[in-house]
Amino acid sequence: MLDQVYRKAVLTVTGNPNVEKIVRARGKGLVKRFVASEDIPGVLRAAKELEQDGIGAILDQLGEFIDSPEQCNEFAQQVLDLIEQAHAQGVEPYVSIKLSSVGQGKTVNGEDLGLTNARRIIRKASEYGGFVCLDMEDHPLVDLTLAQFRTLVGEFGNKAVGTVLQSYLFRSLKDRDSLDDLQPNIRMVKGAYLEPETVAYKDKADVDANYRRLVYQHMKAGNYTNVATHDEKIIDDVKHFALIHDIPRDQFEFQMLYGIRRDLQKDLALQGYRVRTYIAYGPAWYPYFTRRIAETPRNALFIVKGMLKG
Ligand code: FDA
Repeated sequence: MLDQVYRKAVLTVTGNPNVEKIVRARGKGLVKRFVASEDIPGVLRAAKELEQDGIGAILDQLGEFIDSPEQCNEFAQQVLDLIEQAHAQGVEPYVSIKLSSVGQGKTVNGEDLGLTNARRIIRKASEYGGFVCLDMEDHPLVDLTLAQFRTLVGEFGNKAVGTVLQSYLFRSLKDRDSLDDLQPNIRMVKGAYLEPETVAYKDKADVDANYRRLVYQHMKAGNYTNVATHDEKIIDDVKHFALIHDIPRDQFEFQMLYGIRRDLQKDLALQGYRVRTYIAYGPAWYPYFTRRIAETPRNALFIVKGMLKG
């Protein structure tokens, strides 16, 4: 409950245009802890550094609140450029996209633009042996995202495209069941948006319990599972679950965010687990950054202290 109050407070304060102005002006150096770079060479450098520790990368071009179809197409083109450059530099083109950024919900030539652009991106990534994960956004977009995910798996296969389920949503267990026939590659997360209590659990204990259920059911069904959390207790439980149920280490991986629990990421990789870090980059970093601050008071403290130092 307190988590929700904190998250709401942070997202409300950071949504204020004056606060955004101050953070943009004074917090840039601090933002670097969570946002690797504003450009493609920078994010590829970060990916190569992780590779030295045996950690893979998920490349995420930031671009929320893109409005016109032209902007969506331009954004999709930037992701295509990213894939090209990653491939050219020997970095696996494993990318994450938000369908809303590439035109989801906008009909162009009788087709949803998000789906059209997702096809372009998945085609390109597949050509280079890469992978595309469709991030999950707030709850009104879940139905359409899962329907489009089904279409895309039908066209490109479950080795080319995956998606995300959020354990704070009441509906996610049913969604997982309904996707089972696809043997889908799914990233399980707790959820990062401010959701109403009509659709989402408010107590952290409920969110965590549902998280474990989602991961365990998905693993037991034999599907590739991306355990995307920094929660050490859950990570230990998943390791134990895999051991007692004979789930091989190449059927799941741990995923974390850039700049968070680097120690744990390295440890897991050293123990022989697959680990991948989600590296967000780009000039549109502000909304991503505020969601990270909303996740834990420790981050807010880190930012405030840093800004006071000037
Ligand atoms: P929880 O919030 O319970 O934290 C567990 C512990 O982890 C904390 O005690 C703290 O120590 C540490 N921790 C967590 N967040 C931290 C932070 N920001 N800074 C420092 N320490 C932190 N969400 C979504 O809605 N849609 C999506 O598509 C994705 N995609 C995604 C990809 C990947 C690879 C990850 C890791 C996460 C996402 N998320 C997401 C975000 C996710 O929903 C969630 O908000 C964060 O992962 C934080 O939750 P935890 O599971 O880490 O647990």
